[in-house]
Amino acid sequence: MTRAIPLLIFGTILMLAVGCTPDHLMSTFDPVGPVAAEQKKVWDYVFWAMVFVFVTVLPALLYMCIKFRRKEGDPIPAQVHGNRNLEILWTVLPIVVLAVAAVPTLNVLRFVLEPPANSIQVNVTGHQWWWEFEYPELGVKTANELYVPVGHPVQFNLMSKDVIHSFWVPKLGGKMDAIPTRTNVMWYQADVVSPEEGFYGQCMEFCGTSHANMKLRVHAVDSDEFDQWVEDQTEPGPEAEELSELAAQGKDHFENLDFKATYTDGSVSQQRCAYCHTVAGLGISGARTGPNLTHLASRGTLLSAMVDNTSENLADWLENPQVMKPGSRMPNPELSDEQTAALVAYLQSLK
Ligand code: CUA
Repeated sequence: MTRAIPLLIFGTILMLAVGCTPDHLMSTFDPVGPVAAEQKKVWDYVFWAMVFVFVTVLPALLYMCIKFRRKEGDPIPAQVHGNRNLEILWTVLPIVVLAVAAVPTLNVLRFVLEPPANSIQVNVTGHQWWWEFEYPELGVKTANELYVPVGHPVQFNLMSKDVIHSFWVPKLGGKMDAIPTRTNVMWYQADVVSPEEGFYGQCMEFCGTSHANMKLRVHAVDSDEFDQWVEDQTEPGPEAEELSELAAQGKDHFENLDFKATYTDGSVSQQRCAYCHTVAGLGISGARTGPNLTHLASRGTLLSAMVDNTSENLADWLENPQVMKPGSRMPNPELSDEQTAALVAYLQSLK
C-alpha cells in the first residue's frame, strides 16, 4: 500500500503534465490568436513570479528547519509573543506580490473584454446540451460548429436558454459564462487555419447530466472559404423534387409524422421532429428547442461534436438518443426501421 502512494502521485503528475502539452487538442499552451496569446503571457508572467517566490522561500524554510532543529539537551527557547516588524513584513510582501500580478491581469482583461469594432457578430446561446450559433449580420443560423475567417476578430454575445453554461475554445482564448437573462461579451481571433476537424471547444460550467458532452468545434478558414460557407448556409433546405425517393419520404416524416416519444423520466407524448427542430424553407421554421438542422449534413459532427457525422451514428442517435447522450432533451422516438432510414436519408441530404 505504501508503495502505491508515490506511484499514484507520480501517475497523477504525469497525467496532468501530458494534458498540458501544446499539441493537445484542448491545450491553452498553444495559442493561435491574440486573445489566447495575451492570456498566456499573463500566465507565463505569474508562473515565473511564483517560481521566484518558490525558489527563494522554500530553501530558506528548509535551512531554518535544519539549522534551528531542537537538539538533545537544548533548553526551551525564549517564548516570544508577537513581533510587529515581522507582522508588517508578511502583510506587505503578499500585497506586493498580488499587485505585481494584478497589473498585467487588468491590462489583458481590458484587452479581452473589448472586441475590435470590425468584429463579426455571433450570438451564442447555450442549451442543455448544445450550442446555438447565429450570425445576425450574415443571416446564418447553425449549431455546435462555428466557421470564422482567419485573421478576423469575432465577437461572441453569450446567452443561455436554461442554466449557466461556459463557452471555451482553449487554443483561441479563455472561457466566459453564458448566463440566462443577460448577455456576456467576449471575442476570439484565429490567426491560423484550423486542422480539418476544427479547434476543439467545450462547455466549462457544470450544467447537468450531459455537461461533458456539450462540445463544439471552430473551423478557421481563409476568407474565400468563409464567404462560400456563409453563402451555402443561407440557402434553404432542399425541395422534395430535389431529393431521392427515400429522402423525400424522410422529409415528409420530418414535417408530418407523429410518433410516440418516451422521455428520461418515463413520461410519454406524441411528438414530431419539426416540433423542436427547424429546417429553413419548410413551413414550420422557427422551432429552436433543438438545433437548427438546415445544413446538418455540412457539419463534421453530431450531438454537439460528440461523434462523427455518419449515417450509422445518425441512425443510432434517432433510435436511442437517451443512450447516445444521457439526459438528452430528445426523447426516445418509436420509429420503424424504414422510418429511421428515410429520416437519415433526408437529414444527410441537408448539405
Ligand atoms: Cu453546458 Cu456545461
